[in-house]
Amino acid sequence: MKRFQNPIPRALVLIPLLSLLAACAAQTRTAPPVVAASKVRVVQEALQAPHDPHSFAEPEMVRVEHLKLDLTVDFAHKKLTGRASLRIANPGGTGRLILDTRDLDVQRAVLDNGQATRFTLGDPLPFRGRPLEIEITPQTRWVHVDYSTRPEAAALQWLAPEQTADKKGPFLLTQSQAILARTWVPCQDTPGVRMTYEATVRVPRGLLALMSAENPTQVSADGVYRFKMEQPIPSYLLALAVGTIEFRPLGSRTGVYAEPGVIDLAAWELADTPKMMDAAEKLWGPYRWGRYDLLILPPSFPYGGMENPRLTFTTPTILARDRSLVSLVAHELAHSWSGNLVTNATWNDFWLNEGFTNYAERRIMESLYGKDYADMLAVLGRQDLQETVDELGATSPDTALLLNIGDRDPDEVAGNIAYEKGSLFLRTIEEAVGRAKFDPFLRSWFDTHAFQSLDTPHFLAFLQDHLLNDQPGLAEKLRIRDWVYGPGVPDNEVKITSTALAQVDLQLQAFAQGTPAAQLQTAGWTSNQWLHLIRNLPQPLGADRMADLDAAFHFTQSGNSEILNAWLLHAIRAGYEPAYPALERFLVGMGRRKFLKPLYSELAKTPAGADRALGIYEKARPGYHPLSQQMVDEILGWSAGSG
Ligand code: BES
Ligand code: ZN
Repeated sequence: MKRFQNPIPRALVLIPLLSLLAACAAQTRTAPPVVAASKVRVVQEALQAPHDPHSFAEPEMVRVEHLKLDLTVDFAHKKLTGRASLRIANPGGTGRLILDTRDLDVQRAVLDNGQATRFTLGDPLPFRGRPLEIEITPQTRWVHVDYSTRPEAAALQWLAPEQTADKKGPFLLTQSQAILARTWVPCQDTPGVRMTYEATVRVPRGLLALMSAENPTQVSADGVYRFKMEQPIPSYLLALAVGTIEFRPLGSRTGVYAEPGVIDLAAWELADTPKMMDAAEKLWGPYRWGRYDLLILPPSFPYGGMENPRLTFTTPTILARDRSLVSLVAHELAHSWSGNLVTNATWNDFWLNEGFTNYAERRIMESLYGKDYADMLAVLGRQDLQETVDELGATSPDTALLLNIGDRDPDEVAGNIAYEKGSLFLRTIEEAVGRAKFDPFLRSWFDTHAFQSLDTPHFLAFLQDHLLNDQPGLAEKLRIRDWVYGPGVPDNEVKITSTALAQVDLQLQAFAQGTPAAQLQTAGWTSNQWLHLIRNLPQPLGADRMADLDAAFHFTQSGNSEILNAWLLHAIRAGYEPAYPALERFLVGMGRRKFLKPLYSELAKTPAGADRALGIYEKARPGYHPLSQQMVDEILGWSAGSG
């Protein structure tokens, strides 16, 4: 496992250190610094820190501390135009600032003195884009970049009115994670760099603009909005949405934004959000971001949720009308600690964001709805993990917690492993030491590292020092290294069981032995039980048994997107025609990658299915976000002209 022997922790956040670095910044990255002996170790760590392979920036030389945006939103040309002003710290007095860009048209770079300065754009690399190198002086504090985005910017989706829920006005939404911020803002696009930001955004009159910042609740008369984010955040949390949007409070410090036609349903569905905040604070300390609001986006939003600080972006597919999918809110809210407060230093450390958050999500759900509910989520999650391990292969290096993404696109590599193996690892530790120790440990991980970006070895050192050291032999017993650096799932995993799902297993057995659907004992079942039933139906299932299930339980009509997704997968495999219209409606009606991927992939397995998929995709593609288009293009081998 040599390649996983990750170096020394990346001392990304030791800002005071930067002044020490000044002495050696002009030398090579690994040159030994000339400083007091006690500081040598830390300085060397900073210098030897692994470079984020997905960013061209050199934050160890110059660091962006604050971003000031002034942008005009042009729907007609699908363009953002304006200026990004970056305040920098340049302790070593270096002569260049390198920013990440992708598909940006840069017109001018200007320094504090108002004078234009030379800049060059390097050759483009796939998904990484082009380095923008700007000449600066040792005294430069501000660098201004005048630029505009391109219509194809991967982070941006420009929706025509017909593509929104209300079909009344245009809509713009962004998705910056993992490395797409650079397609709309020239920046040091690495999670290892944090900055505060402010923005002025000019939009067509009548539209509301929102960001991952302090937000308005009312439309402004002149279409100009001013934003402020006073806590330092990494670039992947930059976010903007513009549209016909209304606000509804859910509590004193939380509320929901949505299109007017969706706002009532959204407010009802998300009513438990204030309780979730209280539960989270009890576990991990005060919420540090001021307000917590949610924005329900039009159906093409490519993710379930995105933890943009102060304003989680959410798919409307969570509006199941029975509050059955609100674990997604618990998840995005939990990122306010794991991810947004304490951030993965590079995308190889993605599990520090998502594994912790997945664990935390279930703790919040347990606080609100009880242990049985949380256990169901954990068992369903364990099934997801198994599926991913089987798909990648149990010896695949991509099943290790610490990833080695290398030259690949982080969005292609970072998946379920980080979420489910990550949370299972934390649960396994929790079980070994008990919550009385584990809960304060986790809280102190967040407190000690608030507003910092950290890598996996740093976490392991903290774990060792603050949890494992007082029990000799525990680290070995837990097989920490196998979990983090090794593939697959170590066999000391905590075994999670769910009584509610065990009842479903009994009915699954009966069904497999021929009991008709209508005679199964399903009284009082909750949606996660139904999901478990559908996922674990015997296969292959003939169209007749599909019809039997559908007549009894109406899965084809389900308003729960998870249930519908799982059911439609069976429908495709079984050639169950009555569900085809629902399949098409679902695929054309929303653009969430989590559902598009399995459904299109399943269709693509047979020639007839592939034909059907292409027919559906031709209609659906124009409505998908660029990220979803890219994914389905690959699944179906779609290229310009294939439609
Ligand atoms: N931060 C992720 C979404 C993400 C990850 C976007 C990687 C881009 C790259 C978010 O918190 C998330 O995990 N969303 C999930 C839902 C969650 C309940 C598991 C999703 O979108 O399905
Ligand atoms: Zn997440």
